[in-house]
Amino acid sequence: MTNPATILAQSGRPERIQGNPVNPPVVFSSTYRNSGTAPGNIYARWDNETWNPFEKTLAALEGTDYPALVHASGMAAMTTALHAAPPGKIVAPRHSYHASLIVAQEMTEREGGQLVTVDIANTEEVVAALPGASAVLIESPTNPMLELADIPTIAKAAHEAGALVIVDNTFATPLGQQPFIMGADIVVHSATKYLAGHSDVVLGAVLANTEELHQRLWDYRTHTGAIAGPMEAWLALRGMRTLSLRFERITANAAELARRLSNHPLVEAVAHPSLPHHPNKERAPKGCGVLTVRPTGGAEAADRLVEATELWLPATSLGGVESSLERRRRFADEATTVPEDLLRLSTGIEDMEDLWEDLDRALTRSQA
Ligand SMILES: Cc1ncc(COP(=O)(O)O)c(C=O)c1O
Repeated sequence: MTNPATILAQSGRPERIQGNPVNPPVVFSSTYRNSGTAPGNIYARWDNETWNPFEKTLAALEGTDYPALVHASGMAAMTTALHAAPPGKIVAPRHSYHASLIVAQEMTEREGGQLVTVDIANTEEVVAALPGASAVLIESPTNPMLELADIPTIAKAAHEAGALVIVDNTFATPLGQQPFIMGADIVVHSATKYLAGHSDVVLGAVLANTEELHQRLWDYRTHTGAIAGPMEAWLALRGMRTLSLRFERITANAAELARRLSNHPLVEAVAHPSLPHHPNKERAPKGCGVLTVRPTGGAEAADRLVEATELWLPATSLGGVESSLERRRRFADEATTVPEDLLRLSTGIEDMEDLWEDLDRALTRSQA
């Protein structure tokens, strides 16, 4: 099984023997019968059979031999990933998901290190920041600015500088890009988004492609207890079964809406990696379900637009089957380099014409 669509449909199922169920069971147990005289599960914070099918499936998609390590959220997974690096300097995109920057800042300050933020699309600037770094965090596309990094070049330079390469692959998903092939040491996911895909689960995962790093991540998760509940892991695998279909439709909807919005008289700017003018588009993953729009009339018009939609859901988060949108600068800790009037749109799997009609109407209504 090497094709992602087949892995998604088939991996992590119980053994093919007569009478077995099609889906893995959910096991609710905090401890296991274990006297220490034979191998086997001991305690559910260490390992849990309901996590395993999800962990195995995600590892197959990302192309690593070591199972993913499911976490209570994407941020729990990110925290584990950042702690895998020795104390020191961390280089990160200035438009990383803002909570990742907050954790990196807090962690480096406490350890006497330093967080250096860069324009991740500017490879020269990133490479110049690497000497002395213990880790580089890469998001590509970035959230929410959709900048694209040259992951292989940055990874090579980071390794020469002795830094770990951590890639947050939430936006691209393993269907869009496989960071281990591009030189990553650690891959992080907010499974809350496209992987689980139905806005009904908060979950994260972190993966490594060496035994030593995998063990370090496992130790940190186990000792800090940033673990997921079995129900969440089960739901995420159930949601992930349809990822290839969802991601294809979501990407097609996003690309077509971006194309139409680029020609809309009430729109000042649109970004999506499929657009001809998108910078560094040769670095784009094979799909992207997020686009950004800056309507005419500034932040107030943007707020009115969000309110005026009838179909698009005014909500944070992304990657669900339902389309949603929000003005990112409504959050006080969003980077100030993100324009005040920028709306981040996450397309779902609805009919594209219905999505377009709703947006077009809301754009007209946004003009006071
Ligand atoms: C790129 C990215 N990474 C990490 C996270 C954090 O994930 P979670 O909300 O599951 O903790 C998010 C959440 O929006 C995100 O967009």
